[in-house]
Amino acid sequence: MKFGHIQASPTVCVIAGDDAAPEVMRPAVDVLRLLSPDIRFLEALSGREALERYGNAFPDETRRAIDSADCTLFGASGGPSRPILWYLRWGKQTCVNIRPVRWYPGYRSPMRHPDRIDYIIVRDNLEGLYPPREGDISELGVLSSSASWWQAPPVEKKGAYAVRVCTDEQMYHVAEAACELALHRGAAGHAGHVTLGAKYSILPRTDGRFRAIVAETVRAYPALSYQEFLIDDLARRMVAEPETLDVVVLSNEHGDILADVASGSIGGLGLSPSACFGEDYAYFEPVHGSAPDLAGKGIINPTAMLLSGAMLLEYLGYVEQARLLEVAIEQTYRQGTALPHDQGGNAGTKAFVVAIEAYLADHAENVSLSA
Ligand code: NAD
Ligand code: IPM
Ligand code: MN
Repeated sequence: MKFGHIQASPTVCVIAGDDAAPEVMRPAVDVLRLLSPDIRFLEALSGREALERYGNAFPDETRRAIDSADCTLFGASGGPSRPILWYLRWGKQTCVNIRPVRWYPGYRSPMRHPDRIDYIIVRDNLEGLYPPREGDISELGVLSSSASWWQAPPVEKKGAYAVRVCTDEQMYHVAEAACELALHRGAAGHAGHVTLGAKYSILPRTDGRFRAIVAETVRAYPALSYQEFLIDDLARRMVAEPETLDVVVLSNEHGDILADVASGSIGGLGLSPSACFGEDYAYFEPVHGSAPDLAGKGIINPTAMLLSGAMLLEYLGYVEQARLLEVAIEQTYRQGTALPHDQGGNAGTKAFVVAIEAYLADHAENVSLSA
């Protein structure tokens, strides 16, 4: 898995997505263009716009744009763009989702000591309860193993089931990605500490196996330390003692939920970026969804989208530009004169981006404009 590679004049596919997502995507791409003029941005239609133009929410043109690009920047799906999100995950086999959780001064955190929050969630992006495989309970009766389950399924009753699938191959991918990241962070002064959260007490065959695979993988990295907690206890620790966390490795559904909890602990979904990596492809998206309640209001916080853009820049080798963008965001919050609405200020999306661009204009001499 490549966490960073340098590609001369790369192409980035841009998919804005639904509801309020285009309102953060457009200014984010403007900022990325300013920072790295040699990146080619290929805008592909999605959702309702694609439906109107091509009669299809996921037209072939968009699939080709994703395939031809070095990576994709994705806004969020509010429903219509979901087939595109599915393609970015399962079509492109982006197996690991990296969700950094870091508080900056100025973020409106509800925590007493938010300055102690600086860790990364590594989430399985492909398996577990996703993609949905559901059916009628009566179908379970034909499974030869079902009679030996802790309780035989009530096949005579009306109801439904969902299947959770965990392959060793994918669990090793996720475990190795977490270890590589912890090693990288350890070298940069962090703890170099991997924490597994799972329900291995109740699900020995799936979460128990995940636990064993993660523990075994960490043992091959003598520089790393390791701890494991039942997922419910880990949720409490994320609130009570986030400073004990460095790299947190989670299943798909646990990672989905706890990433939003973690985001809440630093100040909300407007602040949380993410990156999804596979062997052959990567795409970048905020943790948040399409925020339909904010659509058209001009107040959605673009920070999560911009920080996802910084992760993309780093992936493409524009490391100085990525750092400058992060510093621009950090300084804008520290200064506190252009805080977005969800952070207790009155800067709309545009005013916040203008503040970021002003910082970049003042500090552009600190970076060369190409990778
Ligand atoms: P959401 O993340 O869109 O919004 C939850 C809350 O957070 C809302 O109050 C919203 O206003 C706020 N919020 C979200 N992003 C914000 C931002 N950048 N700035 C300020 N506030 C922000 O989650 P939801 O409402 O549960 O879901 C809406 C839609 O998004 C659903 O269709 C869901 O499936 C989808 N979704 C998509 C993705 C994705 O594409 N990866 C992720 C999560 C949710
Ligand atoms: C996320 C979202 C998605 C998920 C949905 C939209 C399928 O909540 O990226 O966090 O559950 O993975
Ligand atoms: Mn989610």
